[in-house]
Amino acid sequence: MGTNAELPAVANRLEGKVALITGGASGIGESTARLFCRHGAKVVIADVQDELGESVCGDLGAAASFIHCDVTNEDDISKAVDHAVEKFGQLDVMLNNAGIAGSPVSSVVDSQKSDFERVLSINLVGAFLGTKHAARVMIPARRWAGILATSSHCMRAAAALPSATLTLALQARRRRLTRTRFEARSAMGPSQLRVRLARHAVGHRIQHGADG
Ligand SMILES: NC(=O)c1ccc[n+]([C@@H]2O[C@H](COP(=O)([O-])OP(=O)(O)OC[C@H]3O[C@@H](n4cnc5c(N)ncnc54)[C@H](O)[C@@H]3O)[C@@H](O)[C@H]2O)c1
Repeated sequence: MGTNAELPAVANRLEGKVALITGGASGIGESTARLFCRHGAKVVIADVQDELGESVCGDLGAAASFIHCDVTNEDDISKAVDHAVEKFGQLDVMLNNAGIAGSPVSSVVDSQKSDFERVLSINLVGAFLGTKHAARVMIPARRWAGILATSSHCMRAAAALPSATLTLALQARRRRLTRTRFEARSAMGPSQLRVRLARHAVGHRIQHGADG
């Protein structure tokens, strides 16, 4: 599943790259894993859904590997990062994608603190831990690397719904975690790390390059 003969040569933008995708067993993460492999990348899927994750990796063949990982657990994240390096020799792209929307409620009055904390823990703390441990191996490697988090401007439109406001707030927090790249860069020291928010289509990023 590495180089895809149906894609023009210029499309193989991820040839030789290794990506770790949290929440890669389904949804956006799964589609991204499949797309990355089509572009020549090796992919590690880190997710709590073991059966689904293994099944996606089965489809992708030797270019993909699954590891059970709850992004709220620092030890799991650390092991997933180490697994990517042990299995494929390096880590070039970290996609902090695992996330939940939280329980739908019709009014903020009915919302539960425990639900809010669960969403915070997965969507925000999980992205922080992914960033921290990816940087741990990326910085010493001293080569091109990128750390991304999934978000969406669509959530702005959904913000009128009380059930979506929690997710919207977290997307904003996550956006800050990645968008303030000057802060992130200084925290990581001089390196070639790019810390980005994948708020546009991932394919767009691959095709147009780069680091934008
Ligand atoms: N779908 C949308 O319209 C949309 C819009 C804006 C943002 N997002 C964000 O995009 C990301 C992916 O969304 P999606 O629609 O593909 O969702 P999804 O539910 O299809 O996939 C999320 C994945 O994350 C995994 N996951 C959940 N909790 C986890 C944990 N603790 N540790 C590891 N993995 C965990 C799930 O098992 C699942 O595979 C999320 O962060 C979501 O907030 C999605």
